[in-house]
Amino acid sequence: MEINKSINTKINDVDFNSVRFGEIFTDHMFECNFKNGEWESPIIKPYSPLKLDPSTHVFHYGQAIFEGMKGYKDKNDQVWLFRPKDNYERLKKSCIRMHIPVLPEEYFFEGLNKLVSIDKDWVPKELGSSMYIRPFVFSSSAMLAASPSLDYKFLIICSPGGAYYSKSLSVYVEDKFSRAAPGGAGYAKAAGNYGASFYPISLAVSKGFDQIVWTDSSTHQKIEEVGTMSIMFRIKDKLITPKTSDTILDGVSRKTVIQIARDLGIDVEERDITINELISEHRNGNLKEIFGCGTAVVISKISSFGYKEDKFELEEIKENYADRLKESIINIQQNVSEDLHGWRYKILD
Ligand SMILES: Cc1ncc(COP(=O)(O)O)c(C=O)c1O
Repeated sequence: MEINKSINTKINDVDFNSVRFGEIFTDHMFECNFKNGEWESPIIKPYSPLKLDPSTHVFHYGQAIFEGMKGYKDKNDQVWLFRPKDNYERLKKSCIRMHIPVLPEEYFFEGLNKLVSIDKDWVPKELGSSMYIRPFVFSSSAMLAASPSLDYKFLIICSPGGAYYSKSLSVYVEDKFSRAAPGGAGYAKAAGNYGASFYPISLAVSKGFDQIVWTDSSTHQKIEEVGTMSIMFRIKDKLITPKTSDTILDGVSRKTVIQIARDLGIDVEERDITINELISEHRNGNLKEIFGCGTAVVISKISSFGYKEDKFELEEIKENYADRLKESIINIQQNVSEDLHGWRYKILD
């Protein structure tokens, strides 16, 4: 792989205490182009704008997918990734669904390793902080034919982040719009899934909520996800989350939370859960916690939910699962506690 290092670093201009998610990028990026039916040799080069023809396929037909992962530093300055193989496997599924050629696994891991290693000074060290890593691929042929692109660009860019302390969310259980439908691309991290979500989310925000709880597209009764997170409910002392399907993203954090909860002796069920069940368990006093989980925030508590004209508040409980699970996950990610499941991936210099 060709490596073309930047002469200057931007790192001294960055105030790491005030960086906001995804606004500052590190000195380098990884790029690999698909041309004439094959992936060319990849390159790491200084982070810089792309020059694209106005007819570039992705602007018109949206053949684009992405991944989201993080790099963490331990107290000895060793950098780690968390479950990157799961991200690669999901990337493959997303590519296949969007008819995008799959970047070979060795290019992905070599690129990740080298890029994160070159920009390792950008990975913050404070417990709970990390560097966000965004691999993505898009259709890059300059053509307006509504058929699959012939060329593709695969890039990885990185963005440092501070410890992300999220406030509890108030969410609206959606009864009209859908994020995904059976047979669609909901299980893929396809760019268009996100583009199509912004309007319904903005309507929920205008009603005073922070996010949407997505429900199934035919009955709007079954709970699927919350915003860009997997969703978990604690009913009495059991943790319940919807099963993955072609309308639900197979979240890496979701799998992690399920495993750690089981390790902690918490009973976990993956099954359908409807809004009616939630409301009735809330009325009975059994609905103790709701939280979302995803790479960006790890775990985000939900303190109230709205459905049609009603709003339901949850009392914060002291011995909550959300804090316990979040702490356990961060400790594994940052090499504070033992990695029983082999989830950490060491970045080599
Ligand atoms: C729709 C959706 N669900 C769930 C998740 C959480 O997935 P992960 O835990 O792999 O970040 C994401 C995050 O990207 C998402 O976009």
